[in-house]
Amino acid sequence: MKEKISTLLSQVEAFNASSLEELEAFRIKYLSKKGLIPALFDDFRTVAPEIRKEMGQLLNALKNTAQERIVALRENMEVATQETKSDKDLTLPSMASLGTRHPLSIVRSEIIDIFARIGFTISEGPEIEDDFHNFTALNFPEEHPARDMQDTFFIEKNPDLALRTHTSSVQVRVMEKNQPPIRTISPGRVFRNEAISARAHCIFHQVEGLYVDTNVSFADLKQTLFYFAKELFGEHTQIRFRPSYFPFTEPSAEMDVSCNICGGSGCNICKYTGWVEILGCGMVDPAVLEACHINSEKYTGFAFGMGIERITMLKYQINDLRLFFENDVRFLRQFKSAF
Ligand code: DAH
Repeated sequence: MKEKISTLLSQVEAFNASSLEELEAFRIKYLSKKGLIPALFDDFRTVAPEIRKEMGQLLNALKNTAQERIVALRENMEVATQETKSDKDLTLPSMASLGTRHPLSIVRSEIIDIFARIGFTISEGPEIEDDFHNFTALNFPEEHPARDMQDTFFIEKNPDLALRTHTSSVQVRVMEKNQPPIRTISPGRVFRNEAISARAHCIFHQVEGLYVDTNVSFADLKQTLFYFAKELFGEHTQIRFRPSYFPFTEPSAEMDVSCNICGGSGCNICKYTGWVEILGCGMVDPAVLEACHINSEKYTGFAFGMGIERITMLKYQINDLRLFFENDVRFLRQFKSAF
């Protein structure tokens, strides 16, 4: 009997089924009422008492092994059928579609690249800024409207702190830490308490530029920005400067580029003027240099600041600023770039 049990045990252990039918045939052969294992239980009745205990244990073990084998094989088969039934297409490449870079990131990288080629470094500053770096050091008079609650998001618990309203605050931080020559650009997010519309948003992006050295003149400013405009919008781009006012530059100007859509002949993007404004700029006010411990007798500098959204809208003819923040993939998918 012992031999019979061990033969059956090795058969059971070696058994494998490739279909539910085979599994059922196995169950019938070994475990059904007239199967091989119950037959051994019948024989067991006549076993000599001295080996009964041992035989009983072996028989039970055989029966359990056979039952467990059936359960295990059935489970394997169910998992396998679920996998083949699933609607996953296993022949698809593992990365079904590659994402694209956000248009604002593309243009930011392009701007950085253009200035890096003429020796500008990149610097960054905090988005939560104190009054000194955002306003006072930049020569904003105490009663300047930009300090007003209308424009600035203040931090409730500390009236000295606010979300920076422009990246010009980074100029101050760079000049505090470094003596000229300084040649740097500062890309970053800025915040203003504006109602959201097609033309305005409470969060947007700017790039600030700063160049301080001996003998820096307005001619250097013009030539640098002319180079920039041609690199960004194309070789035939023209620029023009209009007098303006910023507390931190003197003289100050706004720079227009010839409309890259109509080439200057007039369209609704340039409101039929042939020109579109892209940035503010000027010679760094000596008071700003002094506030940052730079000798204004010895050094002069120029600065400029531009909005990345505005430039991206012009470059790609996008007419609603809100599209940048909605993350609709149908919009984002259209932008392909080397950057
Ligand atoms: N900070 C200005 C703004 O947010 C932009 C600007 C104008 C920056 C003139 C400059 C500048 O550095 O010289 O509107």
